[in-house]
Amino acid sequence: MAKISKAYVCQACGAVTARWSGKCASCGEWNSIIEEQTPSGSRALIAIKGGKGRLATFETLAAATIDSPRLPTGMAELDRVLGGGLVAGSAVLVGGDPGIGKSTLLLQAAAKLAETGARVVYLSGEEAPAQVRMRAMRLGLAHAPVALGTETNLANIVATLGSTVPPVLVIIDSVQTLWSESVEAAPGTITQLRGCASALISHAKGSGSTVVLVGHVTKDGQIAGPKVIEHMVDTVLYFEGLSGHQFRVLRAVKNRFGPTDEIGVFEMRHDGLREVDNPSALFLSDRDRGAPGTAVFAGMEGTRPILVEIQALVAPSLLGTPRRAVVGWDPNRLAMLLAVLEARCGVRLGSHDVYLNVAGGLRLQEPAADLAAAAALISSLTGKPSPEDIVYFGEVSLTGAVRAVGHRDQRLKEAAKLGFARAVVPAAAAEGNRNTKDLELLPLTQLDDLVALFGALLVE
Ligand code: TYD
Ligand code: MG
Repeated sequence: MAKISKAYVCQACGAVTARWSGKCASCGEWNSIIEEQTPSGSRALIAIKGGKGRLATFETLAAATIDSPRLPTGMAELDRVLGGGLVAGSAVLVGGDPGIGKSTLLLQAAAKLAETGARVVYLSGEEAPAQVRMRAMRLGLAHAPVALGTETNLANIVATLGSTVPPVLVIIDSVQTLWSESVEAAPGTITQLRGCASALISHAKGSGSTVVLVGHVTKDGQIAGPKVIEHMVDTVLYFEGLSGHQFRVLRAVKNRFGPTDEIGVFEMRHDGLREVDNPSALFLSDRDRGAPGTAVFAGMEGTRPILVEIQALVAPSLLGTPRRAVVGWDPNRLAMLLAVLEARCGVRLGSHDVYLNVAGGLRLQEPAADLAAAAALISSLTGKPSPEDIVYFGEVSLTGAVRAVGHRDQRLKEAAKLGFARAVVPAAAAEGNRNTKDLELLPLTQLDDLVALFGALLVE
């Protein structure tokens, strides 16, 4: 039997220390370190010293490959994020805050797949069968042939899955409830989480089943977060959304079998998640037309253009250090944009509080949003609304130049489709042929021009 030694492991980042402390020295999290018992490393060392390893064989890159077949789940938004569907033998991690809708999403996907005749196993360690059944009833899926179980013991799960024809899809909700006797740590700790996840992942590889692991993002470090198993799985999806908003966004942050910039958009309704195939219309549906401080950004999420409203509020500050608060965008990006406005365009914001919000709970990651954010800021500062029929896209550099961004035609096409008539774009985007002729382009080379253009447009 391996020697067991004590170690103190941070449940947020996985750092191991010899002594307990209130704050993790490597990630700065408070109260996240707990005592765990781990087999000491001596066994691994003996194997190296003994030198009795088996010889490994090598292959060439050119060897014949079998294209991993994809199985669409039937939920188009989920398939898009997965890169076309589930890959046999792969492991997918679906992370998200508690209550965001992970179980709902996966139960819907499981039911859809099961209705096509595929064998789907749903193991719920968090909810009793009656609760899952109640949810299924609410979703109108009570008759879907999903095999429902509540086992949380790893050995029993692996034995059960191995005893029959391997299911096409195995959903573990959630991975943090799993425990294994062979791992000497309490359920929910990092050691348990890693041990159980790696056993299930190798089961997936061996049997050809797709394993979906649900992981709760945790704030207080009492149970280990899904971050610590991200490196083991093939695909990592995060399900996010603002509480109080009905929109949910499924985002791929790692995908060995597809792109990572795709998003899936859902709306949480009383009868489950509904897929949103035209997110732009949804994000712009309750626009504050004619109000100062808003601008519409023609963005791209993966291969899909998405129009979204950016809102800004600039108000004189009562504090010595003015406040800057951002929801849905990078705060560093806002700080940079404010500095450029101040230094290059003479727009004085140093004594103003600045709030920026991306409507609908979407989180923007593109630098192309700079121009729209600048427009919203200038509009709020001047108290003059941006004209309703204008969209913006373009990146702002530290010199104040407006730089070109990709996917011009797709952005313009989406804007035209939604009834916009003009687009403020980088000068480079106005050159060359374009497919969309119905949009008038207002090209900019400097951020200065935006300030001037804004003034001119607002005189109308
Ligand atoms: P759930 O899938 O249980 O979240 P998670 O598994 O991520 O913890 O979803 C819980 C929330 O979703 C709950 O607050 C209620 C809401 N909800 C709806 O609004 N409509 C529905 O049809 C369902 C099933 C849930
Ligand atoms: Mg759940």
